[in-house]
Amino acid sequence: MGETASKRLSMRDISIEFPGVKALSHVDFDLESGRIRALIGANGAGKSTLMKVLSGVNTHYTGTIEIDGQECEIRSPKAAKDLGIEIVYQEVDVALVPSLTVAENIMLNTLANKMGKKQVVNWKEVRKTAGETLKRLGVEIDISARVSEITLAEKQMVLIARAMVEHCHFLILDEPTAPLSNTETQSFFKVVRNIVQTENVGVVFISHRLAELFEICEHITIMREGTVVQDMDITPDLTINTIVEHMLGRKFEETYPKQDVEIGDTLFEVKNLTERDNRVSDIDLHVKEGEIVGIAGLVGAGKTELCKTLFGAYRTSGGEMRLKGKKIQPKNPSYAVEAGLALVPEERRKEGVLVTDPLYANVTIAALDKFLTKSGFVSKLRQKKSARKTIDDLGIKTPSECQTVALLSGGNQQKVVIGKWLTSDADVYIFDEPTKGVDIGAKHDIFELISGLARNGKGIIYASCEFSEILGISDRIYIMFDGQIVKEVNAGETNEKELLYYSTGGR
Ligand SMILES: Nc1ncnc2c1ncn2[C@@H]1O[C@H](COP(=O)(O)OP(=O)(O)OP(=O)(O)O)[C@@H](O)[C@H]1O
Ligand SMILES: [Mg+2]
Repeated sequence: MGETASKRLSMRDISIEFPGVKALSHVDFDLESGRIRALIGANGAGKSTLMKVLSGVNTHYTGTIEIDGQECEIRSPKAAKDLGIEIVYQEVDVALVPSLTVAENIMLNTLANKMGKKQVVNWKEVRKTAGETLKRLGVEIDISARVSEITLAEKQMVLIARAMVEHCHFLILDEPTAPLSNTETQSFFKVVRNIVQTENVGVVFISHRLAELFEICEHITIMREGTVVQDMDITPDLTINTIVEHMLGRKFEETYPKQDVEIGDTLFEVKNLTERDNRVSDIDLHVKEGEIVGIAGLVGAGKTELCKTLFGAYRTSGGEMRLKGKKIQPKNPSYAVEAGLALVPEERRKEGVLVTDPLYANVTIAALDKFLTKSGFVSKLRQKKSARKTIDDLGIKTPSECQTVALLSGGNQQKVVIGKWLTSDADVYIFDEPTKGVDIGAKHDIFELISGLARNGKGIIYASCEFSEILGISDRIYIMFDGQIVKEVNAGETNEKELLYYSTGGR
């Protein structure tokens, strides 16, 4: 195929409203072939909404879109595709058919087209094109593997390859790196750079990991509350701090809440715990009252598996857990909740919320008994009042506490799950990557809330691969590698380098 002609896309005066929300107002946005533009903003700023205008999902926009000076209407996903605009969402699974092979998934639309028209499919050709496309991207994935068997990072590659097969000129990547490990992120960037340079594609890159932008982007557009507040080149003197200030509209300093909490007696104790399929094994750990205990480890180290095992979502084959000295044996999550544990899961949108329910129902569900009236009914009034506090505490962006969770922005859905567990009355709170996908301002609010829990004598387990955050928030840290705890350190006596050393298998 080779290099495609250069194109310039411009969106002018784009506005869009949803019931109760002015999601975009008078937005201008430009994109050029062969360049990578970062799109940044706090949770709910309008990034995904703007990109869904471009990809033909949000069809009731006003304003104009031009490609090379030619006005075009994008009123359906097909219209976007016909213009060479492709989007890869963070939830890659929605766009893939797990039972089909890598090759078939790359060629999915071509195949669907042919089959729809009852034309004969040349399977050899399908495999050849798919294989060649992956090779062009510089990616090695077995094209006959089933998509259900490949990693998330590989699934993203399959979707990028599909976009290439479909002659895409503009590629939108909505928070692709949030679930990736550092190594995976580096390979991902290599592929993106490659398609930009050799195929002349124009890329929009959305991320809350601001440091990444400097590695890969040339321009940055910053949004705040549905408008564009900055549009600039990324120059060496541009700092993350400046970006954050534009993003939040105020001065911001990354600090961690001061930990002057009195640490009490041992609250939660785990001895020799092993998960039935050995996903984690020989786990010894303890958490004291008022203590924040970090679980540091890279993606794949077993942090999520550990959290799920503690919470009874995975069965154990051995070991012991004690809460306040009493033996507990969570056979399932509801038993764990009963015993006094709470887990904010990593896959929040999948496991943590009922997306079709209103916000107030979601944030109160883990503590329903708090909202009972004398006659034993759940008081909606009290639920809503509590929900309004959660909205305030976490800065959740929503028109009201009655909004359906599915209609909130990605990061705000994450905050709803966190709010849900903060409302519950547990003794030990387990957080699995709580800051993933949330903006830097909201992160700060989450740290404050976690510290508040500690101040109230709760025990906190905080699992994350963001070492700087772990160091900032924890009192003590366990480091995981390959399903085991390999080292225990005091947060004040270690550094990122040491965490990295042990979490990559150093002994
Ligand atoms: N279909 C919809 N119906 C109602 N409100 C919507 C809809 N789509 C988006 N919104 C609202 O528009 C605003 C912008 O949301 P958007 O998803 O664009 O934010 P975002 O910048 O992508 O945030 P995040 O970083 O959390 O992903 C939010 O207040 C969101 O709730
Ligand atoms: Mg979004």
